[in-house]
Amino acid sequence: MDTMGNLRRTHYALETLDAKIGDTVVVAGFIARSRNLGTLVFADLRDRTGIVQLAFDDSSDAALVEKAKTLKSESTVMAQGVIRERSSKNKEIPTGDIEIFVTDLRILNIAETPPFEIREEVSVRDDLALQYRYLQLRLPSLTEAIVMRHKIVKCARDYFDEQKFVEIETPMLIKSTPEGARDYLVPSRVQPGHFYALPQSPQIYKQLLMIAGFDRYMQIARCFRDEDLRADRQPEFTQIDFEVSFADVDDIIELQEGFLKRLFKEILNKDITTPLRRIKYDEAMSRYGSDKPDTRFGLELVDISDKAASSGFGVFAGAVENGGRVCAINAKGLNDKISRKEIDRLTDFVKTYRAGGLAYARVTDDGINASFSKFVAPELLADMLKDADAQSGDIIFIVADRKKDTVYTSLGALRCEIAAKYGLIDPERFDLLWVTDFPLFEYNEEENRYEAKHHPFTAPRDEDYDKLETDQGNCYAKAYDIVINGTEAGGGSVRISNPQLQKRMFRALGFSDERAQQQFGFLINAYRYGAPPHAGLAYGLDRLVMLLLKKPSIRDVIAFPKVQNAGEPMSGAPDVVDIKQLEDLSIKLDLKK
Ligand code: AMO
Repeated sequence: MDTMGNLRRTHYALETLDAKIGDTVVVAGFIARSRNLGTLVFADLRDRTGIVQLAFDDSSDAALVEKAKTLKSESTVMAQGVIRERSSKNKEIPTGDIEIFVTDLRILNIAETPPFEIREEVSVRDDLALQYRYLQLRLPSLTEAIVMRHKIVKCARDYFDEQKFVEIETPMLIKSTPEGARDYLVPSRVQPGHFYALPQSPQIYKQLLMIAGFDRYMQIARCFRDEDLRADRQPEFTQIDFEVSFADVDDIIELQEGFLKRLFKEILNKDITTPLRRIKYDEAMSRYGSDKPDTRFGLELVDISDKAASSGFGVFAGAVENGGRVCAINAKGLNDKISRKEIDRLTDFVKTYRAGGLAYARVTDDGINASFSKFVAPELLADMLKDADAQSGDIIFIVADRKKDTVYTSLGALRCEIAAKYGLIDPERFDLLWVTDFPLFEYNEEENRYEAKHHPFTAPRDEDYDKLETDQGNCYAKAYDIVINGTEAGGGSVRISNPQLQKRMFRALGFSDERAQQQFGFLINAYRYGAPPHAGLAYGLDRLVMLLLKKPSIRDVIAFPKVQNAGEPMSGAPDVVDIKQLEDLSIKLDLKK
């Protein structure tokens, strides 16, 4: 095996483009592949920037050519050589016009045959790829994603530094407080029987930093939530987190739009037009069936409750009589493409969103043929579907339910499913919008009471103060989410900074003064000492990177992600621990089978 000796890298693979023909360069990296054509030997050297070709030929030192012939994939090498034009160009890679005619080759480590070939076009079982994540990370697409993530963080730090923000770290070992998700707990050795929680977000601490007078806080913050994994959810993830004093909704939105504009320009060279569109929660739900609407395509929900209720069809009438709704979406021009079997699949799909079923109406030159035609007179059917703009070639889907949210969410999901499957989304497009005026409370049907939709420190709209204790269902919050292409990329709110209002909020949530004091006492106390009004927001950094890079999952932009069972296949976390470690923590296990 060779050593580096005095050789030091002068150029990354991609940087060889900056060198001139005839320049001597030193590159370092892994052998992506090599070809032995007798006296001619070629090898692709891969580093974190890309690939460059190493060349050896009959004018090379014979011993060097022999050495090059032994190059094994994924081995680590350094090579010194002269840049020259390639005789057969490779249009697939940026450095494809040149190669390095090697004069010194150092094989620093010979790789064993890896468990899978490290090439984009080779598909590898997920568990195997993640077990050898450090090898999978050598894939240019993954390397690029991780480097872009760094650039996005840097852009945020630069922008908010210019805007006079101070980056402050908040603790990782904190008190468990009831937030949205389940906490990860950490036992204390020094205080047996006591537990820290890992932060679900720095929420409480950033509010305290406003009371401390820091005025403009930001942090790239690790967050931990013990919830089920999804394509856009990991148990540990990162936020770009902010809090600003003396600010209201518009101030936060304006500040963040400045950042988003800069981010899209710097990372994607795309101009986004600000101010961004704003849409209120209620309108987002009734038009798109979602509080994170994807507006890159139509298929909007149309409320046909009135005509459906008087159509004579019992299912529709029943839903409306019980306080529910009947809504439709028109899959324009897709009648021919959607088979009976596909409708069965879509019916199963909406059922996973609790819809009782999926009615449909096919519109052709011969008229309308609906799944419920035999219950409704033809004129009434045509009239009912008029608002959905029924035209020949369309197929219209209808959900009726006594719960309007079931109608919204099932059709909201269906419109995304249809758009994705039938190619209605322009892959180049970015739609950014704010969803504002979220409900302040959410009804918990199991416990028969209202709870905070975000957290109990979210400020109500000024006009809703009077309704706090009497009409919770109609109170709205000064809360906002930033939605990018149908995914919630971030969210925040104005906080309650007035102790009297906070007291009323706790009462509205059914907290006794004692319970509020017990759970949030330190925060409630802090607000007694002159809190500036303040508001904030946090982006999910992983989601932001995923969205900008158009990746299907946040796992594609996290160096070492967790898998479905919240484990990490490479290291084997979580794992059992030594009994002595448990004894130190005064913990005895009582495992149920
Ligand atoms: P929220 O809970 O909405 O707000 O979180 C902010 C953003 O974080 C991202 N996010 C996640 N990303 C990956 N995996 C997860 N499990 C996950 N959970 C959330 C989302 C989300 O929009 N403290 C408040 C913010 C504030 O009010 O200032 C908060 O945490 O992109």
